[in-house]
Formats: sequence, C-alpha cells, structure tokens
Amino acid sequence: MSLRPYIVGNWKMNGTRAMLSEARAIDRAAQRYMKVEVAVAPPYTLIHAVHREAEQIAVGAQDCHPGVEGAHTGDISAVMAADAGAKFVILGHSERRQDHGESNELVRTKVESALGAGLNVILCCGEPEEKREEGKHEKFVLNQLRLSLPEEIEEPGDRLTIAYEPIWAIGTGRTPTLNDIAAMHASIRAFLVEKFGEEQGGLVRILYGGSVKPENAREILSVENVGGALVGGASLTADSFMNIALAAGDGEDQ
Ligand code: PGA
Repeated sequence: MSLRPYIVGNWKMNGTRAMLSEARAIDRAAQRYMKVEVAVAPPYTLIHAVHREAEQIAVGAQDCHPGVEGAHTGDISAVMAADAGAKFVILGHSERRQDHGESNELVRTKVESALGAGLNVILCCGEPEEKREEGKHEKFVLNQLRLSLPEEIEEPGDRLTIAYEPIWAIGTGRTPTLNDIAAMHASIRAFLVEKFGEEQGGLVRILYGGSVKPENAREILSVENVGGALVGGASLTADSFMNIALAAGDGEDQ
C-alpha cells in the first residue's frame, strides 16, 4: 500500500512506436522522483513495448472488455491486457461512456472482470457541465460510483483508485475552483468510507483529472483528498508530464 501521490498519464488514442522515447524519458525521470508513483496508460498497441522498457513506472490499459475471451471482434480482455504487461486499467472514462455508450452497469462488469484478472482499477467519474449548473453534480457523480462499483472489493485500498474528471474540464483548459475540487473529493471520500469502512475507504486514492498542467498541478495536488492526477494532453511529452510529477513530489528530486 502506497500513499505516495499517484500521477497517471492517459495517452488516449495517441502514440506510435515513435513515442517509446517519451516513455523511456518518463521512466528515467521517475527513477529520480521516488516520492511519487508514476504510471502511463498508452494505447493497447504499445502496452507490451512500454512494459518491456520500463524499470520504474507501471503500465496500464485504457479500457477492457468485460469477458475473458471469445467472439468479440476488435475487443481486448483484462486477461489479455495483463498478459501484455498491464498492471492496471482505466475504466468508465467519459470518452468511453460518450463515444461507446458505456453505461454504469457495463462499467461495473468491466471492473469485476479487471479485478478478477489481477489488474488494479482506476474508475473514472465526472459530471457534464449542465449537471454542475443545476447544482446536481455531486448527486450525479456519487450515483455513477454507486452503480459502477461492485458490491464488494477485496482490499480496495490497494486495488482501486477513483479519478474525478468533470467532463467540461477535459481537454478544455478549464478547471473547477480549488474549493469545488475539495468539495467533490470530500464527498467521494465520505462515500468510500461508507462503502468500504473507515480504514480501506480512507486508503483508496482519489485522483483529479481535467486540464492538469505543470502550471496548475501544485495547487490542485495540495487540495485535501486529492491523491494524484490523471493527465491527458500534458502526459504526451516527458517534459510536461514529469513537471507535473515533480510538482506532486514537492518539487524535489530524490
Ligand atoms: P486532459 O485529459 O488532461 O487532456 O484534460 C484528462 C483525461 O481525460 O484523463
């Protein structure tokens, strides 16, 4: 169990083998920032290659099918992602929910399958802008979590991470205020404690995601109950990504 800040790069549909040099540079820098846990989720096509080269960082997938194997053209199971070297999988990202119509119920079956395959899970949640304008953002996010999480998880403090990513902040350069981030993370923490108990619910890390950059990382990461960041655009170069990791580790090499 680690309480180090957790900084995860979500490369989305970006990256050919030419990006392996960035992965190597991220890994080298991560060896100097031992106060921070650094991970990347490249596209499936690069999981194995990044896994083979990485000495320090963990590699993850960005999705998986809920099944184990079978007639599902174009899909990848959690078992296959693990076999390629993935240690974790991001599930329920808003782009999957929007582009592929993924429901909370489907996400829950994926979470079960991933945990069963030995992968840790980063479960994403986050509200669309209109829910925030209506003041219903907290209810919306907690409902997503309630429906996307299995009834029981063994050792959730080790196996589960939550990523709060307001949809309107993803890739837009806009972020909630620090108070708004604090309020949502406190609500998610209360939900986790109620679901998993004081100890385990207190250990599940809650990442913030949505337009995290080297310039705003330090203040966002200092908010209570923010245990790290899920980073999209700014994770595509080692330079900007590792400046976020540096901010997470109080700006010190070690
Ligand atoms: P962004 O993406 O950092 O580019 O806003 C975050 C995410 O979608 O995980």
